[in-house]
Amino acid sequence: TILVLDFGSQYTHLITRRLRELNIYSEMLPCTQKLADLTWKPKGIILSGGPYSVYAADAPHVDPEVFKLDVPILGICYGLQEIAWHHGKNVLAGEKREYGRASLNIRPSESQQAHVSKLFESLPNDMEVWMSHGDKLSRIPDGFTTIATTANSAYAGIAHEQKEYYGIQFHPEVTHTPQGGVVIKNFAVNICKAQQNWTMEAFKDKEVVRIRKLVGETGQVIGAVSGGVDSTVAAKLMHEAIGDRFHAVMVDNGVLRMDEAKQVKETLTKGLGVNLTVIDASERFLGLLKGVSDPEKKRKIIGNTFIEIFEEEAKKIAKAAESTPKAGKIEYFLQGTLYPDVIESISFKGPSQTIKTHHNVGGLPEKMNLKLIEPLRELFKDEVRKMGLDLGIPADLVGRHPFPGPGLAIRIIGDVTPEKVRTVQEADRIFIEEIRNAGLYDKISQAFAALMAGDAVGVVGDQRLYGHIIALRAVVTTDFMTADAYEFEIKFLKHIAQRIGDEVKGVARVTYEVTGKPPSTIEFE
Ligand code: XMP
Repeated sequence: TILVLDFGSQYTHLITRRLRELNIYSEMLPCTQKLADLTWKPKGIILSGGPYSVYAADAPHVDPEVFKLDVPILGICYGLQEIAWHHGKNVLAGEKREYGRASLNIRPSESQQAHVSKLFESLPNDMEVWMSHGDKLSRIPDGFTTIATTANSAYAGIAHEQKEYYGIQFHPEVTHTPQGGVVIKNFAVNICKAQQNWTMEAFKDKEVVRIRKLVGETGQVIGAVSGGVDSTVAAKLMHEAIGDRFHAVMVDNGVLRMDEAKQVKETLTKGLGVNLTVIDASERFLGLLKGVSDPEKKRKIIGNTFIEIFEEEAKKIAKAAESTPKAGKIEYFLQGTLYPDVIESISFKGPSQTIKTHHNVGGLPEKMNLKLIEPLRELFKDEVRKMGLDLGIPADLVGRHPFPGPGLAIRIIGDVTPEKVRTVQEADRIFIEEIRNAGLYDKISQAFAALMAGDAVGVVGDQRLYGHIIALRAVVTTDFMTADAYEFEIKFLKHIAQRIGDEVKGVARVTYEVTGKPPSTIEFE
C-alpha cells in the first residue's frame, strides 16, 4: 500500500487514481495523520501539492515520524517544499508564479550521458509537464542532488538517492503531464516495490469476507435501492456475502421514470436473486406534493416521506426477520457511498481543518439506531461499474445515467400532478429510446425530458390546442460540477419532437435546452 498524504491540492485524489490504474492499492489521508494511529505500514509515501507556503506560521506539516519510517517518499509541488523544509528550511517565495506547461530536462548536468534518476527511468528528455507553484527552493538541501530542471526552475526535481526521497515541482498526476503515469509507476513499482495486485475481483472477494465477519453468522442488514448503479451493485454484493439476510427496500414515490419500480423488481429479484420489497407509496407522495411548487419544499416532502415509509417498513421486516429461527437482529444499514464522497470528507481543508461528515439518507441510520455498512466506499464510479459487470448485473443498468432522489418532481416546473408525471414519463421514454437506438446513450452523461411551466399554443388537426411544453436536456460532463449540452443533429431532434407530439397526449411543443452549466444547472429546479 502507498500512503498519500493530502495537503489540500485539488489534484490529490488523482494520485490515488493513477496508483489504482497500476493495480496498486493506495490510501489517501490528511497530511496531519499521526503515523502511530495507522494499523499498517506503507511501502512508500506520497506528499501531495497544496495551496500553502511551507514557511508560513500556520503552514501544515506532516508528522515528523514520516521521515523516520525508512520508506521512499515522493513530494509533489508543496510536497517537495515540505521535504526541503524538513531538511533545512531552504524555501523562499518565488518572484513569479509558475503555472502551466513546461519542458522538463532530466539530464541537468552538461553531458547528455549524465545520470538519469530512477524516478525518470525510460523517460525522454524534454518531456512536457504541468507546473503550478509560487515558491521555490533557495538552495538544495544537504545530501540531495538536482535530478531535473525547467527553463524557470533550477530545482524542478531533487533527490536523496540513498534515502530514496524524491521531490518534483510538477504534477505527474494530471493529464497535462502526458507521461506522468510513468513517473508514478517508477516511484511506486520500481522504487517502493509496491505490489500490483489490486483488482476488482480481489477487492470483491476481500469485501465479501469483511462483510461476513462484520455482520456475523446471524446478523441482518437493511438498505434502500433506487434502481441506480451504486445501490444495485451494493445490494448484489451484500447478497453475495449474506444472501437473504440482506433486505433491500425500494420505495415507489410516484415520481420515478416510467415502469421503474417494475423493472427494478424484475432485475433485482428475478435476475440477481436479491431479497427485495417494493412499496408502492405513489399516492401518499403525490397527495403530499399536491399544489406544492417550491422546489426545495418538494425535495423536503420527498426526503421526509421516504424516511417515514422506510422506517415503517424496516420495523415490519425486523419483526418478521427476528421471529425466524437462527436469525439475529437487523444491526446494519447499507449505504452505497463512493470514494469521491469519502475524499470530500477526509481531504485536508486547511490549518483549521473542518471535516464534513458524509450526508446520508437524511440521518436515517442514526435515527433507527443502525450502524453503517459501506462496501463501495473505496471505489470510484468506473470501478463500481466494473464490479457491477463482474457481479452479473446487466450492462445497460451498470451504464445508466444518474437520476435524482426527488425524481420527476424537480423535472416538472411548478406543481406536480399525476397527469404531468405521466406526460414527462412518456416523453422521457421516447427521448431515451431514440438516444439508445442511435447509439448515443454512452456518449451522454445524463439525458432526460422535463415539463415547463404554463401552456403554449399548437394545432391539432385544424383545432387550436393549448398544451404542455416539454424540454429535452442532454449533457456531457466528467464531474457534474460543470456540463455542456450535447450537440445532436437537428434532424434527430426534429424527429423526436415529432414523435413526442404524435404520441404523448397534451404536448404542444418540444424544445431542446442548450445552456451549459454554468450558468444553468443540469436539472431544471
Ligand atoms: P444540478 O442540477 O445541480 O445536478 O446541476 C447535478 C447532479 O446532481 C443531481 N441532482 C440531485 N440528485 N437529489 C439528488 O439525489 C437532488 O436533490 C438533486 N438535484 C440534482 C442531478 O441529477 C445531476 O446528476
